[in-house]
Amino acid sequence: MTNKPAGVQALHWTGHSLKVLDQRQLPEKIFYDEYTDAQGVTEAIATMRVRGAPAIGIAAAYGVVLSSYQHYSQSVDNWRQHVLADIELLAESRPTAVNLFWALNQVKDILDKQKTDPRTAILACAEKIHTDDIAANYKMGELGADILANAKGILTHCNTGALATGGYGTALGVIRSVYARNPVKIYAGETRPWLQGVRLTVWELAQDEIPVTLIADSAAAWLMKSGVIDWVIVGADRIALNGDVANKIGTYSLAVLAKQHGVKVMVVAPTSTIDGSMKSGAEIEIEQRQQSELLPACYKDNAFVSAWNPVFDVTPAELITAIVTERGVVLNPVEGGVGGLIKS
Ligand code: MRU
Repeated sequence: MTNKPAGVQALHWTGHSLKVLDQRQLPEKIFYDEYTDAQGVTEAIATMRVRGAPAIGIAAAYGVVLSSYQHYSQSVDNWRQHVLADIELLAESRPTAVNLFWALNQVKDILDKQKTDPRTAILACAEKIHTDDIAANYKMGELGADILANAKGILTHCNTGALATGGYGTALGVIRSVYARNPVKIYAGETRPWLQGVRLTVWELAQDEIPVTLIADSAAAWLMKSGVIDWVIVGADRIALNGDVANKIGTYSLAVLAKQHGVKVMVVAPTSTIDGSMKSGAEIEIEQRQQSELLPACYKDNAFVSAWNPVFDVTPAELITAIVTERGVVLNPVEGGVGGLIKS
């Protein structure tokens, strides 16, 4: 591994199992679950023990490794159909982050070519997805920091750090890189209802001794009005060819507010987050999660109260100043989209 993953590790491949940091328990408790089959990894993704688009993709790839270990050792004749069934299962864990499907397709391509024992080739593929993601994060960190040379204040949303990626982070990687050059003021939104901002981002930055100020999501407009930030920096779960970006619910609100206040918006994501099959954000499936993630328990059986809980939204390209990927930066994506970055 050329680039060391920075920060706490969301995923740890042991050689025979996948250890997953249970992010639902952070920051109170650091606890790793250990998985030896694809069903377990599917459950870990669906229940958000592991979350964040790149980390979900990496976990799924290791899930296929575990599947190949399990099924090849159980049945040398029949392993392929079982592994393909596990790939289908993993693909159903969460719908919005395209990195999940991108990673599963990479592994499936290897599988299609593999006539004999697939285990070594699939493991090599999963490890490459993991190390490539870390390298992409470092590259994006530098490219993003170049743009932010004169930034005075940054607001970020959700968690896009080491916990959400192979290590280092996308938007949070840029923040790490820019802070190393220039101690810019950093604000993190709490990111209701799952609280990725307060529980994960604030914790990650504090561990790195990078000062951060938490705000309630509803304080964002007032923060912008005060003039202390000049950039909103976020990650992405899926980017359509026209530059529309699906990301954590609340990103669209921030982009609308940013326009009103003359604040710029940067999206940081590896090219594995670009969905070459989607022309615009209107095609992106937005995950709806359980009402219980939003509704206080006292309303559980109340027939008059329900909750609407979409966990992502789509920010139109016209509200985005720059999309930073490991292959380069697209300024004003509304003008030509991002298709140029994924042409081989
Ligand atoms: O529901 P989550 O926590 O998986 O959502 C995560 C986000 O929306 C992140 O901003 C995105 O996945 C990019 S992470 C580098």
